[in-house]
Amino acid sequence: MEQPDLKNLHFGYIKTDYNIRCYYKNGKWSKPEVSTSEYIDIHIAATGLHYGQEAFEGLKAYMGKDGKIRLFRWQENAKRMILSAEGIKMAVVPGKLFRDAIFQAVKLNKHFVPPYGTGATLYIRPLLFGSGAEVGVKPSSEYTFIVFVTPVGPYFKEGIKPVDMMICRDVDRAAPLGTGTFKVGGNYAASLRALIAAREGGYSSAIFLDAREKKYIDECGPANFYGIKGDKYITPKSNSILNSITNMSLIDIAASMGMKGERRRIPVGELSTFSEAGACGTAAVITPIARIVDPDKNMVYEYCTDGKPGPVTMKLYNKLVAIQNGDEPDEFGWMTVME
Ligand SMILES: Cc1ncc(COP(=O)(O)O)c(C=O)c1O
Repeated sequence: MEQPDLKNLHFGYIKTDYNIRCYYKNGKWSKPEVSTSEYIDIHIAATGLHYGQEAFEGLKAYMGKDGKIRLFRWQENAKRMILSAEGIKMAVVPGKLFRDAIFQAVKLNKHFVPPYGTGATLYIRPLLFGSGAEVGVKPSSEYTFIVFVTPVGPYFKEGIKPVDMMICRDVDRAAPLGTGTFKVGGNYAASLRALIAAREGGYSSAIFLDAREKKYIDECGPANFYGIKGDKYITPKSNSILNSITNMSLIDIAASMGMKGERRRIPVGELSTFSEAGACGTAAVITPIARIVDPDKNMVYEYCTDGKPGPVTMKLYNKLVAIQNGDEPDEFGWMTVME
């Protein structure tokens, strides 16, 4: 296959050479198989198609200056995929199988890992779904686990840049006792009306509030929220948001810089007291927020209006990216260097 220009990638899907597939049947997982096809043959009554028995993960492989490929905290993605599977009654993917499949997918496609210094990475997408046929609403007895990879460009091509976001009051992504803490496809389907409305309004993302009271910040589309106040890094505690691995890491980095990490409910009104705010996740690491608009309440919260991210945001961002690229020592033990 013709090799894509790995120095000039956008953030989207590009075919690579191989993907890995495993099948769960009769209570057992098969050994990982290598496939060159981008397609799957799927039963028309598979529970993944009808009842949303589907979960996925997203992580990245980074090329270091030393020519070595590094994975960031893949063990946390393995754990989260187990939680997601349990949350919607699917067979869990054991940690070792998860590891073997992602490592094999990266190794077989290592010529697609973008070069050091481009900001581009190899995105790894593990995917688990119910593949057995059921017509009544019940969990499948068969599952398929696939890992594919695709090279992705830097989220911000012209460098990290603050964006505007909109508080969404007329769509809930997840209910407090629902599936918001799991990385299941249904949550993303539920978020699309809000995301499209936000983008049509000229905003980069929608900010969801807690579904019960509409008083507290939940998440920024597919990313966690944080605010900076004095020496505090404050991020929402909620039972309807995904526990972001980037956010967990930023809290640790903030602590190592002498800041205090606070995970607690954040009332919407508190937005006016932050000096900086941002959204964090694997895709962009940090998306700094310039303005949060709350159209229903006629409120605007402003942060970095000079078009530049705030100083704390930049410090956190630079440190995490340096660790991921292997430019700084891995003092937290987050990176796995692939042999
Ligand atoms: C809903 C949601 N919240 C937060 C995140 C950020 O999580 P992470 O930092 O693990 O990528 C993601 C992306 O995975 C997400 O989809």
